[in-house]
Parts: sequence; structure tokens; C-alpha cells
Amino acid sequence: MPNSEVHQSIATALSTQGWCVIENYFPAPLIEHLAAEVLALHKHQALRPAGIGRGQQLQQDRNIRQDCIHWLDGSSLAQQQYLTAMTTLKHALNQELYLGLDELEAHFAIYAPGAFYQKHLDSFQGAANRILSVVSYLNLDWPEDAGGNLSIYAQDEVLTQVKPEAGKLVVFLSEEIPHAVQPATLQRLSIAGWFRRRSNGL
Ligand code: OGA
Ligand code: MN
Repeated sequence: MPNSEVHQSIATALSTQGWCVIENYFPAPLIEHLAAEVLALHKHQALRPAGIGRGQQLQQDRNIRQDCIHWLDGSSLAQQQYLTAMTTLKHALNQELYLGLDELEAHFAIYAPGAFYQKHLDSFQGAANRILSVVSYLNLDWPEDAGGNLSIYAQDEVLTQVKPEAGKLVVFLSEEIPHAVQPATLQRLSIAGWFRRRSNGL
């Protein structure tokens, strides 16, 4: 698992540019277990279209995002290990950046071939309290030309294209970094998570 130097460099990147990508953040066996788990959940029809609404609402959501999701509940060893790794990251970043990160909510996501998520922010200033986004990929042996990049933007300019490769962790400020999921030729597996801000008790 990553050491304090890695966490230090994540903190530096977040404070200077608001996002960062770390390769091989998670050990391969953990990624394999998480991938097997989301595929088993999918097989048992335990994933649901994301951003689900009724009638017109659902239709509109399909124009924006097309992934199917399942919220993590810590019910498997692999999920617990993922959640423990995120807790370690949270403590390190709280110490470095005083973000006051508190609870994590996270879901598995499967994008079918061709599915996308249009450019968006994960949180709007003053509205929800999602502070930091963490996205992990579960795609072993992702081919060079399979698409499915995570595009990270500054306004209209694409800053980087992140291939959704197993073991990678992408971290960014939820209120500040616009991003999009490009369609892929293959089924694309990920875990997206958000740290909420500690409530001030009022
Ligand atoms: C999200 C999201 C990115 C990805 O779920 O909000 O932006 O690469 N996911 O899966
Ligand atoms: Mn997002």
C-alpha cells in the first residue's frame, strides 16, 4: 500500500492543480477481487442505472450518463480493504491539507460498450458537501485503443486523458474539476467515491 511520500505528492498536486493520477495505487490481487465482485453483482442483476428517476427524468439522465452502479456497503473483504485504503488516504490528506474530509460514499460502476458520462462537476459550491472525488479502475489488460478515457478539463480545454487501467487512482476536487467519461469499445469497470466534508455540528 502507498507510503507517506505518495500521499505527500497527492496533497501537493491537489493544492497546486486540483487533481492527480497515481498508477498502481492498489495491489493487483485487491483489484482482481473487486473486479470479480462487480462482475458477479452484475450477473445477479444487482446494478442499477445511475441517477435513476421516473419517466422524463430517467430519459434525461440517459442523455447525461449511462453507467450502472452498485453502492459499496463493506460487505466483502475486498470492499473492506478498499475502504480501509481510502480511510488511510483521508487521514493523510486531512493532515496535509486541512480539508476536513469525513465520510466516504462509493459505488461500483459498469459502463457498457459505448456508454458515457458527459462533462460534469461532482459537486456544486455551496450545494452538496462532496469535497474530494476518488476514482479507481478495475480493468485488467485494458487495450491501448479501447477508449473509455476519463477526460479532465479546465473550462473547455482538455488537460489530460486518463486511461481506465487497473490499479490507477484519480483524485480531484469535486467542486472544481470538470470531467467526462468517454465511450469505450469494451465494458469498463470502476469505483467512484466521494469524501464529504465534516459537518460543523450546527
Ligand atoms: C462519476 C465519474 C469517472 C470515471 O461517477 O462521477 O465521473 O472515470 N466517474 O468512472
Ligand atoms: Mn464525476
